[in-house]
Amino acid sequence: MIPNIKEAREFLESKLAGFKPEVALITGSGLSDIAKALANPVKIAYGDIPGFPKPSIPGHEAQMSFGELAGKKVAILMGRIHLYEGRTLAEVTYPINVVDALGIKILIVTNAAGGINPQYKPGDLMIIEDQINFMGTNPLLGGLGENGGIKFLDMSQAYSPRLREKLDNAAEKLHMSIWRGVYLATIGPVYETPAEVKAFAWIGADAVGMSTVPEVIVARYHNIEVAGISCITNLAAGISGKKLSHDEVLEVAAAAQEKLSKLLAEFISTL
Ligand code: HPA
Repeated sequence: MIPNIKEAREFLESKLAGFKPEVALITGSGLSDIAKALANPVKIAYGDIPGFPKPSIPGHEAQMSFGELAGKKVAILMGRIHLYEGRTLAEVTYPINVVDALGIKILIVTNAAGGINPQYKPGDLMIIEDQINFMGTNPLLGGLGENGGIKFLDMSQAYSPRLREKLDNAAEKLHMSIWRGVYLATIGPVYETPAEVKAFAWIGADAVGMSTVPEVIVARYHNIEVAGISCITNLAAGISGKKLSHDEVLEVAAAAQEKLSKLLAEFISTL
């Protein structure tokens, strides 16, 4: 059992008055506008939820927001916790354990990422087809929770083919062009060197970021179906020769949010 998870579930259920979310959505850096589309949201600060760690990076609100979106009962986790904040894997993946404890079976993850694929441009969206764990660690090390036991988890369909097809169909319906590619995560907090970006392209990555991978591993541990979208906020280091900045990442994410929110709403309506 994960420490505090029962208390977290009971606390949230007491606030939700019978509302049972079916879908969870974790929003990446500067990508939480979708939460404004929730009808009559119940907002709960991360800091109020037993066991829940708070993020500490600008651009990440720190709350769960529950409500109806596109006809579905949704829990939006605004802002995530990152390894680069010096947090533990248990903290980074705690929200996923909460999602599981609430009985949610579908998780959507979004993130900001640097484009490695030379066709990608800032502001583009990419359906995540698969991931590469380049963080050098794994949230299932030693087993999950006190008595979790080691699990040799199958990751051959980390991102659900069924949900990927629905995302494809949603984008097509909206006449939105979208890439499909592989997301690679480093531990951060530094951006990559051009040599690293070249190496990552070589091993099959289309986009690079500093999040998502641990959460998806823990979601799959719980047998939660996962869909993911990266917002390409910049060209990865060395591709354009331009310096990378977090401000630019947030700026481009802000500009791409409307498109992303439309896609998410259309996708969620089909779940
Ligand atoms: N590298 C790593 N993480 C990122 C990037 C990047 O270029 N852009 C946004 N998040």
